[in-house]
Amino acid sequence: MELVPANCFAPLDFEGIYGRKAPVEVDLGCGDGSFLAALAAENPAKDFLGIERLLGRVCSACRKIERSGLNNARILQFEISYAVEQLLPKNSVASFHVMFPDPWPKRRHAPRRLVTENFLASLHRALAANGTVQIATDETEYYRQITRLISQSSLFAVIPDAVPANAMSKFEKRFTLGGVKIHRLVLRKVSPVT
Ligand SMILES: C[S@@+](CC[C@H](N)C(=O)[O-])C[C@H]1O[C@@H](n2cnc3c(N)ncnc32)[C@H](O)[C@@H]1O
Repeated sequence: MELVPANCFAPLDFEGIYGRKAPVEVDLGCGDGSFLAALAAENPAKDFLGIERLLGRVCSACRKIERSGLNNARILQFEISYAVEQLLPKNSVASFHVMFPDPWPKRRHAPRRLVTENFLASLHRALAANGTVQIATDETEYYRQITRLISQSSLFAVIPDAVPANAMSKFEKRFTLGGVKIHRLVLRKVSPVT
């Protein structure tokens, strides 16, 4: 079963879902699941969770996982902010991938953007020690907004010159073929000194 049945209030039990204890990577807004499935095939020792709200895309992602016979990938149909804040256990995620989040480029729509100060705090809570967040966007103004938020935050450090994954998402392929500039950012969780 590729779809994670979610109790809307209880944190996910990764060991129960995947039947083992392994690092978990989460693809936020996984779309048709091509990036998730490629990552899962390349990294059999890790487990992968895609979070996506649109049913059609969830079905495509589940079909890809099933056809590829991947035991280490699952999809959760849910809204990202709520899922990260409420359903991912604290200190549980090795890596988040945020590949081409909806850009909401119109000024009046900008408040709908996923990456905010609160969202970064939720990612930080769910990440394991030294966990990473990989972000890619074609939207220059959104990228600037994210880098501004990071520069004002003590929760993450930027990893300079990080090498992107071999796998490409559907949107990444589309933008690369179209010659569109892609902005990338890789962050590492900075744990508070106790
Ligand atoms: C621009 S597409 C990128 C898809 C994929 N990451 C890729 O790079 O090919 C953004 C995806 O994120 C999903 N999405 C956007 N906001 C979301 C939210 N708040 N909760 C769940 N899914 C969301 C959309 O439905 C869409 O599939």
